[in-house]
Amino acid sequence: MLADPQSLVDQSVFPTANPTAQVALPAELEAAVGQITERVPTSQLSLRSRSLSADYRANTTRPHSMDPLAYAVHRMPGTFAATVHALQQLRFAWPDFEPRTLLDVACGPGTATWAASSYFPSIGEVSGVDADPAVLAVARSLTSNLRPRIQFRVGDVTKEEVESVDLAVCTYALAELGNRRAYLVGQLLNRARAVVLVEAGTPVGAGVIRDIAISTNNHALAPLSNDFDYGAIEYLHFSQRLQRPEYLRSAKHATRGYEDEKFAYLVAARSHRVSLGGRVISTPQVRKGHTILTIAAHDGPKTVVISRRHRDAYLLLRRARWGMSLSPDDARIVMSAAKPAS
Ligand SMILES: C[S@@+](CC[C@H](N)C(=O)[O-])C[C@H]1O[C@@H](n2cnc3c(N)ncnc32)[C@H](O)[C@@H]1O
Repeated sequence: MLADPQSLVDQSVFPTANPTAQVALPAELEAAVGQITERVPTSQLSLRSRSLSADYRANTTRPHSMDPLAYAVHRMPGTFAATVHALQQLRFAWPDFEPRTLLDVACGPGTATWAASSYFPSIGEVSGVDADPAVLAVARSLTSNLRPRIQFRVGDVTKEEVESVDLAVCTYALAELGNRRAYLVGQLLNRARAVVLVEAGTPVGAGVIRDIAISTNNHALAPLSNDFDYGAIEYLHFSQRLQRPEYLRSAKHATRGYEDEKFAYLVAARSHRVSLGGRVISTPQVRKGHTILTIAAHDGPKTVVISRRHRDAYLLLRRARWGMSLSPDDARIVMSAAKPAS
């Protein structure tokens, strides 16, 4: 008799776990970006970075218009940090998952290739696909010292058949793909054991992720597991602090050594299930004797006050960051101590 496919599904419990406080780019990636931009005067890079930002704000960035050097300086650090955050949630949701093959969809300069190969040393083979040959040339330079065997190729990800892989990532590209997005995501879920999607933390980016999460809810691992109602949260997004590389600081004329990247993400898998208790979906406000925060619970988002008098719940959340997961047991402790915020 054939085994019931459900019995093969791991029903593990999501742990209570915090995202990393601050993500830094690997020194080798910083050096590689430094190398490809060393002949470009800082003033020109600043100008090009500003023009890239203006393109994004006007929502006019198209494959043919992306400036890959400006993107590597200006956008790669934030994209990298958000991708690491999402990959970390995949690790919490599926600790035994050891991907050997990676597909980086609409890979740009190889940001997610860098993030995934740094985060999962088990990855030995990578394929990256992008529509823009100039961007791929930058990706090749930036990843030339990475350990996995990497092949980048020109292709239209909305038309191609997806190969079978362990992990597929698509970062900051889905919003550009229009109504072919659903076809691509369907393929990714069929052909990859785990899929990580990351978009900008704008209402548009979060909306793209929300629509995908609703239509593929059965497979979601994070930020909410498949027993949550994605439709109940209008604007589900997250924030990851990153250390600004020196070149980003000078391109932005910034004084602070860090910035906060806002993003939305989805981790999904065909044959792995988890039970999440809840997730912190705002920056906790730590006050004298109490903490105020918003938690995604099974029956929707709740903004609550946890007083120090509820010692267990208070201690659990004392160091919570935006994005922290709660195990089912810990979520029960927290919700039984929670008072609605006025
Ligand atoms: C904003 S960049 C993101 C790049 C990269 N994933 C990252 O996170 O840094 C979007 C990328 O999508 C690529 N792209 C857009 N439409 C595409 C398509 N139909 N097929 C393949 N690549 C596409 C663009 O060329 C560009 O490199």
